[in-house]
Amino acid sequence: MQIKNSAVSMIIDAADEKELEEIKLQFLGKSGKLTLALKEITKVPIERRAAVGSLANDVKKTIEETIKNHESRIMNQESKTRTEKLDITAPGIKPAIGHLHLITQAVEEISEIFRHIGFTRVRYPEVEWDKYAFEDLNFPKNHPARDDWETFFIKQDPDPKKGPMILTPHTSSGQIREMERKNPPIRMLNIAKCYRRQSDVSHSPMFHQFEGLVVDKNISIAHLKGTLDYFVKSYFGEDRRSRIRPYHFQFTEPSFEVDVSCGMCKGHGCKLCKEGWLEMGGSGMVHPNVLRNGGIDPKEFTGFAFGWGVERVLMMKEGIKIDDLRFLYSSNLNFLEQF
Ligand code: DAH
Repeated sequence: MQIKNSAVSMIIDAADEKELEEIKLQFLGKSGKLTLALKEITKVPIERRAAVGSLANDVKKTIEETIKNHESRIMNQESKTRTEKLDITAPGIKPAIGHLHLITQAVEEISEIFRHIGFTRVRYPEVEWDKYAFEDLNFPKNHPARDDWETFFIKQDPDPKKGPMILTPHTSSGQIREMERKNPPIRMLNIAKCYRRQSDVSHSPMFHQFEGLVVDKNISIAHLKGTLDYFVKSYFGEDRRSRIRPYHFQFTEPSFEVDVSCGMCKGHGCKLCKEGWLEMGGSGMVHPNVLRNGGIDPKEFTGFAFGWGVERVLMMKEGIKIDDLRFLYSSNLNFLEQF
């Protein structure tokens, strides 16, 4: 009994195959403890010999079985550690590194381009008074943009001086704010979120615009055209050209639509463009009424302004294909990680 207990506990404690082999020899080997004990059986009186013999055989069987079980457990463990061995020289798993959102990248790039020619980046309220978004920009009272089918109204009961409160539908509302804040010379770049009641593959209710305003003595259309050309070449590439077409905006006179030569067909005309040109946005010479509303004398100063969509210029850039503008705001990593 004593032999059995001590053998079993030693077997269970054995850490590896080698140790187990030694224990086996110690009990079951030629001069092992159990082998010697079995030899002693001949000395046991004949009437008790059978009982002692069968007990001794039980002990032998238990020891053998315990050894076998433990042996297979040790073998399993060893093969596992052999395959799971840590290779400290193997390259590690790289943590996923994010990047700035596509729109943020574009905003930074655009700001940097204009910073080089002296434009200061400003930001004005996105929850804005009608006065800044429409009234002082020369919009007539019945203009469709002032309807709540077009614009989001925050407060219908108007402020006696500033009118109703709205979500600004364009960055042009920064023009009067800048004129109130600063005397000429003015060279501002207002980049902000804008809001309109629209939603389809190329429009979302929230989008971004960048608005330039320059007011100084003797500012002419040539300055506008030069600035526009510089931006187009810096942002889209040296081989791209710009043009202005007569148009109408309430707050500029004369007003223009700005086009960029198509990057796909290099201006020859293709499926993507209108005879080689892509429309980028509006611009013009600041209307004298707007200068006056901003406290600037139009006889002394002139200016130009432009307002273009961040999403639009991004989608016009070579190599960026976005089927649905709303993907940009979906937080879908499969989409965003492509850029
Ligand atoms: N605010 C106009 C829009 O959202 C764009 C625009 C046109 C801005 C002409 C200007 C401008 O500064 O001169 O459609």
